[in-house]
Amino acid sequence: MCGIVGYIGKNKAVPVLINGLLSLEYRGYDSAGIAVLNNNKGNNNTYEEIEVIKDKGRVKNIQNSKKLINVEDSNIGIAHTRWATHGKPSKENAHPHLDNSKKIAVVHNGIIENYSEIRNFLYQNGYELYSETDTEVIPNLIHYYYNKNKDVLKAVSLALKKLKGSYAIEVISPIFNDEIIVAKKESPLVIGVGKNEKYIASDIPAILKYTKDFYFMDDNEIAVIKEDTIRFYDDDLKEKNKELKNIGWDAEASEKNGYEDYMLKEIYEQPKAIFETIGTTLNGRKIDLPLEEIDFGKINKIYIVACGTAMHAGMVAKYSIEKYCKISTEVDMASEFRYRNPIIDENTLCIFISQSGETADTIAALKLAKEKHSKTLSIVNVVGSTISRISDFVLYTHAGPEVAVASTKAYTCQLTLLNIAALYIAEKIAKNEKDLKEIEKVKEEIKLLPNKVKETLNTNQMIKKLAQKFYNSKDIFYIGRNIDYGACLEASLKLKEISYIHSEGYAAGELKHGPIALIEKGVPVIGIITEESLALKTISNIQEVITRGADVVIVTNKKIEDKNYMEVIKIPECISYLSPILSIIPMQLLAYYIAKNKELDVDKPRNLAKSVTVE
Ligand code: AGP
Ligand code: GLU
Repeated sequence: MCGIVGYIGKNKAVPVLINGLLSLEYRGYDSAGIAVLNNNKGNNNTYEEIEVIKDKGRVKNIQNSKKLINVEDSNIGIAHTRWATHGKPSKENAHPHLDNSKKIAVVHNGIIENYSEIRNFLYQNGYELYSETDTEVIPNLIHYYYNKNKDVLKAVSLALKKLKGSYAIEVISPIFNDEIIVAKKESPLVIGVGKNEKYIASDIPAILKYTKDFYFMDDNEIAVIKEDTIRFYDDDLKEKNKELKNIGWDAEASEKNGYEDYMLKEIYEQPKAIFETIGTTLNGRKIDLPLEEIDFGKINKIYIVACGTAMHAGMVAKYSIEKYCKISTEVDMASEFRYRNPIIDENTLCIFISQSGETADTIAALKLAKEKHSKTLSIVNVVGSTISRISDFVLYTHAGPEVAVASTKAYTCQLTLLNIAALYIAEKIAKNEKDLKEIEKVKEEIKLLPNKVKETLNTNQMIKKLAQKFYNSKDIFYIGRNIDYGACLEASLKLKEISYIHSEGYAAGELKHGPIALIEKGVPVIGIITEESLALKTISNIQEVITRGADVVIVTNKKIEDKNYMEVIKIPECISYLSPILSIIPMQLLAYYIAKNKELDVDKPRNLAKSVTVE
């Protein structure tokens, strides 16, 4: 899940590499390293050697390295920030890795599944390996093939053909002067284009301040990048054309803009992000979605497949889809769906939700749905990402770049867009005037969301105080029913991923079937109550935990009598199906302030990466 960066051009490579790594640190921070071609060209006007600077831990160790002075004039380099999969976080295992001749440097994002077989192959051919990583086999394999045919591109392609697993790689070498070779399979890689300079990165925000023009690499492609040209090849080295895409995001959107952390900035960006998402899809009374080719009358089943927060968006949206479209809807984790032979066919619509568009399990699930001839629709934030490219239909959330590992604005935009899509489908298959009238009402409610989200952010001060009371807790529970249950799962995930407090989201009615045994004096229980018809039921469950000593907080837009609650957090009135877009806001803030009270790094929580590009 690591981050990789590359630069070739007329300017200095090191600042681009370091800045890129800093903004990719959310993808991993076990070690960092750069490799550049040394600028002292020899007699043949070719580079003579590769300089590698790498260390365990964060990018700042490289940034502070005295050795940087030796390489500051270089114009070609590659860089890596690691999320270790094979071999512990250490300097030896840090990328870039060199081949035995020290003439080929490689950074790699992904997993080489057959690395031990290749290690044996290399040992038999006289190579030594110095790290525990799977990656180190790559530069040596390239060297092995280069020795045989003296054609670098061929050597890279032959080496890649031997690899099983996933990779995005960058290769530099003084052997092939003035170019970077890159390739990808199942790990993300974009190439940014400037005037006489090219940038490479795992993710757009890392290089967004230099360019808005990008090539998105596809699986099994290889590119040879020079300062003024890029040539693309398929895996048989047949040259191919690719379309350059202009990405609408501006560079400022991926800066902190005065906020202490990206997460807080992204929480506060929600009114605007939701406004943008609505603006591109709901014009006046008309919903504009590029889904005309789907005959929704034939769809008899919907599957929503995703991971983590994106899956929680699906769990909440299931209720509005079933309510308005009257099509049975199931939600599944991509990591389960891909291995359980789901019963789907051409009459199933499979919806894949992903902020990054690069999550390995979601990609695999999407491929499976395509194999089974289902219609595939993706809800994605990153334009041009793998999921957006391989699904039959794509709808973009317009959340802008989301940098913090904990997803916030992408989630509320996903929910907004899923509701709009539900109404679009419902309109296509509506059977009577009454249904159509109801759809119109919800459309009007959707337009009010940006202002209501803004209003909900005013709970900030109250939440800050609550965070001071709760930050030492060992466990925190969130309970609710139906759509509120989905919101509880998301609230709980937010808390655990950034505050490291054990937490569970529970369906309120399920509590007494086991987990209530964990409730004792002083355990915080947060009840989310927005579902009108179930409010009284959840309140009864809340009484049950109060009786056992829990400290209860209620998040609601209903009039609720105070019955010994520690706090009641009021959110704006809203129709049930949209209220999870509001109820999650104070819960995002609570997770944030609890983590701040614990002095944790909210944007880069331990063991996590923003984009989970390995299985
Ligand atoms: C969200 O806070 C998490 N970091 C994580 O669960 C995330 O939502 C999940 O990995 C899916 O990512 P995606 O939306 O980019 O596919
Ligand atoms: N498998 C490689 C390693 O462990 C790369 C890891 C990654 O992509 O995060 O070094």
